[in-house]
Amino acid sequence: MKFPNDFLFGGATAAYQVEGATKADGKGRVLWDGYLEKQGRFNADPASDFYHRYPEDLALSKQFGLNAIRVSIAWSRIFPKGYGAIEQRGVDYYHKLFAECAKDGIEPFVTLHHFDSPENIYEDGDWLNPANIDHFVDYAKFCFKEFPEVKYWITINEPTSSAVQQYVTGTFPPNEKYNFHKTFQAEHNLNLAHARVVNAYKAMHLAGQIGIVHALQTVYPLDPASAGDQHAADLQDTLDNRVFLDGTLAGHYPDETLQLMREILVANRQADIQISNADEAELQEAADQLDFVGVNYYFSKFMKAYNGPSETVHNGTGKKGSSISRLQGIGESGLRPGVPVTDWDWPIYPKGLYDQLMRIHQNYPNIKNLYITENGLGLKESLSPDQHTIQDDKRIDYIQQHMNAILQAMQDGVNVKGYFIWSLQDQFSWTNGYNKRYGLFYVDFDTQKRYPKKSAYWFKEMAETHTVPA
Ligand code: BG6
Repeated sequence: MKFPNDFLFGGATAAYQVEGATKADGKGRVLWDGYLEKQGRFNADPASDFYHRYPEDLALSKQFGLNAIRVSIAWSRIFPKGYGAIEQRGVDYYHKLFAECAKDGIEPFVTLHHFDSPENIYEDGDWLNPANIDHFVDYAKFCFKEFPEVKYWITINEPTSSAVQQYVTGTFPPNEKYNFHKTFQAEHNLNLAHARVVNAYKAMHLAGQIGIVHALQTVYPLDPASAGDQHAADLQDTLDNRVFLDGTLAGHYPDETLQLMREILVANRQADIQISNADEAELQEAADQLDFVGVNYYFSKFMKAYNGPSETVHNGTGKKGSSISRLQGIGESGLRPGVPVTDWDWPIYPKGLYDQLMRIHQNYPNIKNLYITENGLGLKESLSPDQHTIQDDKRIDYIQQHMNAILQAMQDGVNVKGYFIWSLQDQFSWTNGYNKRYGLFYVDFDTQKRYPKKSAYWFKEMAETHTVPA
């Protein structure tokens, strides 16, 4: 089977992970700046210096057959404080970037929020403070008016990653652990922020489309015959996926979702969250008007029943076997025999992508258009002077298996309209710094030179033939 003629083959990026230039042209600070300074392990300068080298990266994209790119706007380049005065140099930068995309025939999919809340917004409670939702809507409306050249908008990247990593695993600032009350409140507020932006966009009657990007980790019971494992999988799925899928695609939370959420809160002796009827009306209005959903998929989870206290260890180094995830009132992540795992302990399971696409297709039938907005394999890579290219056969194998899963889902009725590899070029990883590379193009972070990897040539063949190369 071939991908349709109008299928998009793109590379994904995010402002903070590629732009560098974190202090240039009046950019305001974001939540990561202070945290990374304090941690002292790595920072986001120069990242891939996309702020200056975007023409080169777009030219490479074109040369290698790509016809789309995911970028994000750094909120704090436009509104350095998150609201109030506008920084014209930031506005000008994004106009130049989109003009260069048009010149190269590369369609930009533009995310408004990719983990980089302005520092002020963050210090005022980030997504837990309803006033910040209003600031986000104002920023979004400014962008919609200012950048008519953008045809595809994404409200928020992976709201689950923000909420869960900020308040459960503590891997994103403010690094709180096991606060499920804050997590679910942030999840609901993120859904609401997304909904308000969609509704505002639609009220402006612009000639474009708007969607959201979810990180979807398909969750299975470790032992399919165990009722306890199945229940642990349902609870983990509620935390990671269900609240978002219901809130943004269905537009309401069914009783079953609310019950599972409350079971987690009760087991952790934490207070219920606030959801008003007015909130639900906004969610519904947005879900009814949503143009597309983006799926970021890297791995699946295999859950077993667990009755002890929470204990998590994040693998931020690539030392295989170093991660732990046991959550009180939810369950424990395990490994299913026969399923390979990456050095970061992520089970490689392409069927999880197929199952997740089928789930959206079957459970949320109002969603007609899907994109794979991130998928890829992180590896430790280095290019020695005598090497011409990175032989990343493992990455090719990973992409190939996932593309075949997508084709299978398309054959079974899912309308997938494009695929964005994470990532276009090597870039900065939030919790791994420069130690985990995903790019089609290798970046020497000292010289900022780009080198196409073997996977870039493989990807070019796929984009040109619209088939998955053997
Ligand atoms: C996604 C994010 O969660 O995964 C990206 O949208 C991120 O921003 C990517 O970089 C890979 O994550 P990591 O931790 O392997 O760099």
